[in-house]
Amino acid sequence: MNIIKLDAINSTNDYLKGLLQQQFVENFTIVTAENQTDGKGQMGSKWNVQSGKNLTFSVLVKDLLLEVNQIFHLNVAVAVSIIEALSFLEIKDLAIKWPNDILAEGKKIGGILIENSIKSNGEIFSIIGIGLNVNQRDFKNLPKASSLSLLLDRDVDKEAILIPIIECLTRNVSLILNKNTESIWEKYHACLYKKGIPMPFENVKGSKFMGIINGVDQSGKLQLTLEDDFVKSYEIKEIRMLY
Ligand code: BTN
Repeated sequence: MNIIKLDAINSTNDYLKGLLQQQFVENFTIVTAENQTDGKGQMGSKWNVQSGKNLTFSVLVKDLLLEVNQIFHLNVAVAVSIIEALSFLEIKDLAIKWPNDILAEGKKIGGILIENSIKSNGEIFSIIGIGLNVNQRDFKNLPKASSLSLLLDRDVDKEAILIPIIECLTRNVSLILNKNTESIWEKYHACLYKKGIPMPFENVKGSKFMGIINGVDQSGKLQLTLEDDFVKSYEIKEIRMLY
């Protein structure tokens, strides 16, 4: 396992991106940082966590040959790998909130930011950024956030979480390479937060509506049953779940 351990960096995703431009980087190279000064979250948000307490790392996955509309397989593999790796801890109600937030007992403990670039021959380079709240216990302005330490009421060894995540990810990515994605999708759907339950959503125009989550399709769209049993699929940027 090729692990680059940094003390402080702007963003492990950006660091890995820069490294790729300068030199050959092995598949599954991992970059960890104790502190990110400009950590990035989904949809242009920031990922700000307490220095030294949590896992903030990026993994390079390259040589994946996927159609553009199949890239979501990777999101599925990453989210499922985190759930699998955490399942040896006694944490209740681990779930994946679409598209790929990791929740426990209804609170966010982890987030995933995948940045893809596609080469002219169709090969995909993916930088998979993972932030997992491990030993942070104070989330002042974030009432919907939690950490492994808060849930287990003890400190948790970060390394003992990182290695199993990478092992699960390596296995699940090879399933994608072998076009054997059924099992990871099954696990993803089995863990999908609030599946089958009426939930409030908000669209980009700010309108609120109720929908029942049926599942996520291969391209990553969330399929909802709306009023009058009308079924509609939404892209990530189109709606957010109000929970
Ligand atoms: C989210 O918004 O839920 C995604 C958060 C992803 C954070 C991780 S921390 C390591 C990697 N480097 C970054 O700048 N972001 C990701």
